[in-house]
Amino acid sequence: MSSELPPAVEGFPHNFVWGVATSAYQIEGSPEADGKGLSIWDAFSRMPGNIAGNHNGDVACDHYRRWREDVALMRQLGVRAYRFSIAWSRVLPEGTGRVNRRGLDFYDELVDELLSQNIQPYATLYHWDMPWALDARGGWLNRDCAGWFAEYAEAAGRRLADRVRHWITLNEPWVVADQGHLRGALAPGRRSKYDARAAANNQLRAHGAAVAALRTAGPMQLGVAVNLTPQHPASDSPADRNAARLAHAYVNRQFLDPILLGRHPDEMAELYGPAWRPLDDADLAAVRQPIDFVGVNYYLREVVQADAAATPFPFRTVKQAGRPHTAMGWEVYPAGLTEILQWVHREYGAVPLYITENGVALDDMEPGGDLAADPDRVAYLRDHLESALAAMRAGVDLRGYFLWSLLDNFEWQFGYGKRFGVVYVDFASGRRTLKASARWYRRQIEQG
Ligand code: FCB
Repeated sequence: MSSELPPAVEGFPHNFVWGVATSAYQIEGSPEADGKGLSIWDAFSRMPGNIAGNHNGDVACDHYRRWREDVALMRQLGVRAYRFSIAWSRVLPEGTGRVNRRGLDFYDELVDELLSQNIQPYATLYHWDMPWALDARGGWLNRDCAGWFAEYAEAAGRRLADRVRHWITLNEPWVVADQGHLRGALAPGRRSKYDARAAANNQLRAHGAAVAALRTAGPMQLGVAVNLTPQHPASDSPADRNAARLAHAYVNRQFLDPILLGRHPDEMAELYGPAWRPLDDADLAAVRQPIDFVGVNYYLREVVQADAAATPFPFRTVKQAGRPHTAMGWEVYPAGLTEILQWVHREYGAVPLYITENGVALDDMEPGGDLAADPDRVAYLRDHLESALAAMRAGVDLRGYFLWSLLDNFEWQFGYGKRFGVVYVDFASGRRTLKASARWYRRQIEQG
């Protein structure tokens, strides 16, 4: 059958890391198994009205019980690396203090199984699922969370760093601050610029503290994963260009400037207004730890228009009618990947990069859809790989690509309705079926 598949994108170096990505809450299920504590996502998704269809992650892909099958799927795809996240509340059910050995056993066995299949583990420490017990103490609003996070990083490192060589501290801290603390769309559902600022600062401090803690656990590559989204002005007018500059600082530079340069972008004061609270010099110095790579999550670009009346910022994004969009309503814009990778390279120097997420949700994979086809996902992936390759040819030090996602999974506030997987999951039975894109990705890995 694979002869019908589109060709691979050729030209990647032999040591290029081909992977797939997932995150704990989106796939694991078993929220209270083996001594796990609850997380803010357990609480948030059980509150009626927060999630489409009132779905939650109680079962999800049942990966906590079916993980061997999922590693076998990765093996079938031929991937060389797997980016997963560790649930903090499995390791420390109360967030700090007592370490839950059985929670760590799960990741320990997973890592051994991956390595036995020649798949390198890339572990993310925080993919949005803070222990609920810590939220009761203020969560990311509490300055102490940097220490809590370092304690957790150390516990995970002590158990796994002898085999896990690649670690990611935070996944998309911008989303946690903006969607979780400013707009209330994601857990913990707060809605204030003051909270968003505190969550941004304390995530930055937590990142620095975790890097410092993990460095002592053994030789490893340490990084952070950020969502980067080109912000293009809707017109050439000075107002729209200024809006795009502000949006770019807010989305793309807010976290990378402190982490890599040890300073806040100038635009932050204007964006946050009275809620602006910079980190002091000692904090900024602790945030700017040497790191080994930056992970880039890329999905879309945004077009920005000035709007003095808009809140919480004086601009808004304008949907590009006539351009292709995904089931998320995100514009398909492969060229933005070259653009944003080159921007990181120019702005921050020759830091090694990974694409830690890229992929697409499509509506044509509803139950009954044709799994033997999947042409739009294959086209999306091919176009984005071409774009990544163009950045490499222009001198960007790109080391690998992690497809989001291995499995259809719990897509946060959208529940199970948005399918990003190259493997189809029938959520009623848990049954997994390869989509054509999974077979194509296998070819890409073999030939690309
Ligand atoms: C990213 C998240 C990931 C997934 C994709 C679609 O923002 O990191 O968990 O939801 O979007």
